[in-house]
Amino acid sequence: MHRHEFLRKLHEVSKPRTYFEVGINDGRSLTLSRVPTVAVDPAFKVVKEVRCDLHMIRETSDDFFAREEPFEHLQGAKVDLAFIDGMHLFDFALRDFINAEPHLDWTSVVVLDDMMPRNIPEAARDRHTTAWTGDVYKVIPVLQRYRPDLRLAVVDTQPTGVVVVLGVNPTNTALADKYDEILETYAVPDPQQVPDVLLNRTIAMRPEELLEAPFWSSLVAAREDESTEFGPDELRATIDESLSLGSRTSLAGWQPEPQPAPADNAVSGEVATPEAARAVTATVPTPQSAGGISQRITRAAAGNPGLWKLGKGVVNRLPLGWRRSIRKHVYQARRTHV
Ligand SMILES: C[S@@+](CC[C@H](N)C(=O)[O-])C[C@H]1O[C@@H](n2cnc3c(N)ncnc32)[C@H](O)[C@@H]1O
Repeated sequence: MHRHEFLRKLHEVSKPRTYFEVGINDGRSLTLSRVPTVAVDPAFKVVKEVRCDLHMIRETSDDFFAREEPFEHLQGAKVDLAFIDGMHLFDFALRDFINAEPHLDWTSVVVLDDMMPRNIPEAARDRHTTAWTGDVYKVIPVLQRYRPDLRLAVVDTQPTGVVVVLGVNPTNTALADKYDEILETYAVPDPQQVPDVLLNRTIAMRPEELLEAPFWSSLVAAREDESTEFGPDELRATIDESLSLGSRTSLAGWQPEPQPAPADNAVSGEVATPEAARAVTATVPTPQSAGGISQRITRAAAGNPGLWKLGKGVVNRLPLGWRRSIRKHVYQARRTHV
């Protein structure tokens, strides 16, 4: 089953009252929504007829979530169904989930796309293939390790699989609290290491198995009736039972092998030139100059692990406001491959 067909059926069974999408592109997934919708993409080019009450924002998801009231359009309603399909880098997809969760309800459903790369080149962080999943698949082990309260269904859709996340908790901050530690461990340089169970899809369930599971009607009813005795614990128990989650492979214990540390002389010797090192260290930053500095750091350190480490060391010594600002700009600069 193709992911759009799966999404169409998921709209039917989960009956969302509101929809949120990160990554619109030409509007093929957006066109499935019939309910009040918020959708964000810095470069959308919608060519499909869209038939819903829509607020479409031409921004990165990070900028969108930095707004004071990103979901103003939903007039206080929570997001019932969210589709995260924006930038195909692990850290972006994870941030999208972290930023979206406070706007969800325990009955909400989150879908993440491109979770089963078909080969290693397709999973690269630095895109060099036509079809590209990037390394967003790492969201699976991270959610399984840091958020055992969530329920994840890895679904065998075409072309590159989706993960459906259930049992969310808008007040849980475990991922945000450990964000830096998680990135340090999982956002490793190419070539990526992809678990075999994802490459050969033995971890995945058939789409019908999830779509025909018996818990959807209880979930939908609980959303409508707050006095019901069916709560988050009952939802998790029903999901575990109907999808046999306990007997499926978990990737909670998986993490990429650490990359060999760059040699000590890498930052001052032939790998990083003194000129490039000066580009990282010479300027005294201010929050206002963070964008320019970040671009220079990113450019100078591209493909140079020693220099990248040096830049990180410098940034980590700066006050929190500067650190946050520089990191934000570095993410943007890396995204646009400066
Ligand atoms: C795979 S396409 C989305 C496809 C669409 N969801 C569908 O199924 O028809 C990914 C989209 O993410 C957008 N994108 C890239 N970086 C983004 C970011 N930081 N925030 C939000 N969207 C982003 C791209 O512009 C692109 O249109």
